[in-house]
Amino acid sequence: MNRESYTRRRNALRERLKGWVLLLGHDEAARNYGGNPYPFRQNSHVLYYSGMTRPGVALLLDMESGRDRLYGPKDCVEDVVWHGAQPTLAELAEGAGIEDVRSITQLRSDLRDIGDPLHYPPPYRGETCLRLMELRDSSADEIRRGVSKDLALAIAASRNQKDEAEIAQIEEALGITAAMHQAAMAMTRPGLLESDVAAEIQRIALSKSRAQSYTPIVTVHGEILHNVTYEGELEAGRLLLNDSGAESVLGYASDITRTFPVSGTFNERQRAVYEIVLRAQKECIQRIAPGVRYREVHLHAARVIAEGMKDLGLMRGDVDDAVTEGAHALFFPHGLGHMLGLDVHDMEDLGEDVVGYEPGQERSEQFGLGYLRCARSLESGMVVTCEPGIYFIPALIDQWEAEGRHRSFIDYETLRSWRDFGGIRIEDDVLCTDEGHRILGPSIPKEIADIEAAMQG
Ligand code: GLY
Ligand code: MN
Repeated sequence: MNRESYTRRRNALRERLKGWVLLLGHDEAARNYGGNPYPFRQNSHVLYYSGMTRPGVALLLDMESGRDRLYGPKDCVEDVVWHGAQPTLAELAEGAGIEDVRSITQLRSDLRDIGDPLHYPPPYRGETCLRLMELRDSSADEIRRGVSKDLALAIAASRNQKDEAEIAQIEEALGITAAMHQAAMAMTRPGLLESDVAAEIQRIALSKSRAQSYTPIVTVHGEILHNVTYEGELEAGRLLLNDSGAESVLGYASDITRTFPVSGTFNERQRAVYEIVLRAQKECIQRIAPGVRYREVHLHAARVIAEGMKDLGLMRGDVDDAVTEGAHALFFPHGLGHMLGLDVHDMEDLGEDVVGYEPGQERSEQFGLGYLRCARSLESGMVVTCEPGIYFIPALIDQWEAEGRHRSFIDYETLRSWRDFGGIRIEDDVLCTDEGHRILGPSIPKEIADIEAAMQG
């Protein structure tokens, strides 16, 4: 990314909005006290519109004149003493194509001088909300009411469309992610702990000076969808689910899931369920193309899964009816995927529906389908994850059975011997192209034979 691309992105906002746009960068976030912060990660909108990685900056974008401003902390020698040589604020601004550089202490009075409207995105950190309250002399309630839906829609319209440089960033992240996943397969064997595999995954990213794009999920309890504890033992006979991804140098995410047997060989039941998930994933990827609604692709995954569960004797009745009623969601309780970009769930800070739903497109209230983060019609340039899964969640099974839910579609009796199966998810990152789609990044084993071969090292 260079100054021209950042300027082009800010100009694209000018075509959609009037007034001013305020984008607050992140401050350092205290871990237990101010001097011991979490690793710094900049706000993604600030990254997208300026590439600015310094804490404590703000962008004030003038939608009329195009004379955008960067506000930031004064350059001082103490920063060099503690953190080493840094580019000056003016040099950073130059790299983003911004000429007007001001002290952050001036922002409050400048905001009083400029006209309305002032657009800002929803603050998702308490600190950002407090800064907005101070800057605008407003209560938290007033700040929440003042969030600009027009800005959210304008940002989502731009950021949903990835250009070549952004795709290259996602693929750079996927290069590291492929190494993380291959290493996890190669080292997995009975007797290790989940934490051994989680550590290796993070070591590989760190050895390339890269962060994780989210907290890795490395678990023999794949049925716990976002399980981020690593205490479990890798026991022969169980499956290990690895959902992890690295971040690129400019902060772009990757998000990959593979599931494989601890022993190195799938047993009969694992093979049967894995083949259903794999078929759902491959058929869904095949359907990705401009103009296709991702909600329909999700429902295709639901049908493949319901059909597969019927073949295993765990579901019964008409598959289409079962999916319409939501009975499959006992096994597939989440959405097929989400947008991917600078954020792993791209731009969810703007609101999931702003990013993944079209205006007027209703979000389902049905259990399962209601978790679908991306339902909209796809366009060339969008990147989505495709991540169907099948899970056996004892607490959910017990609750549904006790309530007699979907009794005509689910064979609770046969299900009893499957309770401890765990879960399987397979996830790739897919670019929607003019021609249809392209799976991003290097290929990572996902056919059963390829996984078993990768596990033999
Ligand atoms: N990688 C976790 C998720 O997509 O929710
Ligand atoms: Mn994902």
